[in-house]
Amino acid sequence: MEFTIDSPIDMHLHLREGAMMERVTPLTSNDFAAAIIMPNLVPPVDNLDRLIAYREQIVAAKGEDVFEPLMMLFFRNYSKAELLAAREHIFGIKLYPAGATTNSEAGVKALDEVEDTFALMEELGIPLMIHGETHGFVMDREKEFLASYAHLAEKFPKLKITMEHITTRDAVELLDRYENLYATVTLHHLIITLNDVAGGLLNPHLFCKPIAKRPEDREALLQAALMAHPKLMFGSDSAPHPISKKECCGCAAGLFTAPVCLPTLVELFEAHGQLENLQSFVSGNAQRIHGFAAPRKQVKLEKIGMDVPARYGDVVPYRAGEHLPWTVTQRSSN
Ligand code: NCD
Ligand code: ZN
Repeated sequence: MEFTIDSPIDMHLHLREGAMMERVTPLTSNDFAAAIIMPNLVPPVDNLDRLIAYREQIVAAKGEDVFEPLMMLFFRNYSKAELLAAREHIFGIKLYPAGATTNSEAGVKALDEVEDTFALMEELGIPLMIHGETHGFVMDREKEFLASYAHLAEKFPKLKITMEHITTRDAVELLDRYENLYATVTLHHLIITLNDVAGGLLNPHLFCKPIAKRPEDREALLQAALMAHPKLMFGSDSAPHPISKKECCGCAAGLFTAPVCLPTLVELFEAHGQLENLQSFVSGNAQRIHGFAAPRKQVKLEKIGMDVPARYGDVVPYRAGEHLPWTVTQRSSN
């Protein structure tokens, strides 16, 4: 049995820098035609020179793969001149509330202090992607942020706003209320709940921001993905950390899912009898919503099985050591 996906796109990806970037980039660029590259490096990617240099490093690391890195600027107050210069080089701008997640210390402290930049982005047609969490109780952080999404969507009706890596039923419901509001969802939030992270022995490899939620939240996310909800896009949020930063006290947030994304998505959609919707979820929706064309690339998966390695260098992947039914067997770009 086989299944082919045209130009899969990962709408939320962390590649890091240096040796880690060189190791993990091919694991996405082999299987995906394009990916949105997150800017939460140290220091953040918050100027054009750094962004262009970072893109060149990624292009070198992907080698011959047909793969387009779609670059993101780290949100701060930008001038119109800066945004005009950046526009042709970026896909959008990613906003982190200060301290919400890995390397977000330079993020935004108060949304109402940066509205001039939102207005400029709206005027120039630059999409805004947001890590939508407050600093409240960990299970409620996304829910508490939804009012801010609603406020921004109303106040800037032409600004394209993406709620990144949504994890709750409430976020899915908000999607239908504002025309200019979209969302990405990860692979792991379609599968795990907080029980998998902390319900038995603690599993640091499943610890991420936003934290996995309740079964009813997972169910709402899964149903929206399986039907390829027209405002929902696949974004893995694959976020590698070395094992020394995961298996320790003060474990870093992030799952490294890149090597198993497509095989697991096919497995999941097949199990629910919705394989015909996977193409839209993992490619079509993103291209329609953002009005762009990903490079042509056919990725064939076959049901011949694969064993997920225990490690990629010093990074433990999601589903490490498991046997998966599907595996990518061919990539072509003619
Ligand atoms: C991400 C990372 O490690 O960069 N971590 C995570 O838990 N998802 C940052 C993020 O997207 O929150
Ligand atoms: Zn992320």
